[in-house]
Amino acid sequence: MTQLQTVKKAAAYINKKTKNFKPETALITGSGLANSVPALDNKIVIPYAEIPGFLRSTVAGHSGNLIFGEYKGKKIAVMQGRFHYYEGHPMKDIAIAIRTLWMLGVKNLLVSAAVGSINAKLKPGSLCVLKDHINLMANNPLIGNYDPAFGPMFCDMTDTYDKEIAKKTLAIAKKYKINALPGVYLAVTGPNFETPAEIQAFKKLGADVVGMSTVPEVITARQLGLKICGLSWVTNLASGISKTPLSHKETLEETKKIEGKFAKILQDLLVKI
Ligand code: HPA
Repeated sequence: MTQLQTVKKAAAYINKKTKNFKPETALITGSGLANSVPALDNKIVIPYAEIPGFLRSTVAGHSGNLIFGEYKGKKIAVMQGRFHYYEGHPMKDIAIAIRTLWMLGVKNLLVSAAVGSINAKLKPGSLCVLKDHINLMANNPLIGNYDPAFGPMFCDMTDTYDKEIAKKTLAIAKKYKINALPGVYLAVTGPNFETPAEIQAFKKLGADVVGMSTVPEVITARQLGLKICGLSWVTNLASGISKTPLSHKETLEETKKIEGKFAKILQDLLVKI
């Protein structure tokens, strides 16, 4: 089966369940960030495991559901839990969920994630609103995955992150006194955290934050022509900058503190988008 056929099948299954609900904005929730999503009206929850062709997420803190509903009249889809390359999923299969959302009608994609910070101005609890990224995953979800239905093979990556949405997000953060800055996300595969030498190299390359997700989804969404906003929440200072050893436990503990801030941002952003 081609990926276009897989995506059509998944979208048909979802459309049957939701009676052709057409979400306009989709949100991907990163490690421990699912609780920040506001209550949705007419909510429908579909476990990934039910959807034909969908992958299953396997990481603690990432439950796997696709959620549909309305927030103040806006039609929203939420990916509660995402698929990471380090879980062993083929990179091209990470595109399936994003392409399915696009087929359902999604136009805007908000991608949240937990990240480590390389920039001294972005302490834990800060928000980095992405202005660009550097893909050091040495792989790409578009490889061996081409169908003209999804957009150009050689898709342009200039202005990938929507400037208007980023501006609105930064203004909302300011309103709630949440420390937020625009920045560059550098993507690694993980699952190990970086070495201090890698972090020093990434700093020289111009990265502000480092993480193990976001970029595959963003590349896929860019090819599809979606408007993209990257919301990277700093859970720790990166390796060698942090005074304590890094752990996933720390990431999840820090996201507990971030949940409330992210909820405030989403309440405003979802209606302004
Ligand atoms: N590095 C990579 N990914 C991360 C980090 C980090 O320090 N923190 C949370 N996700």
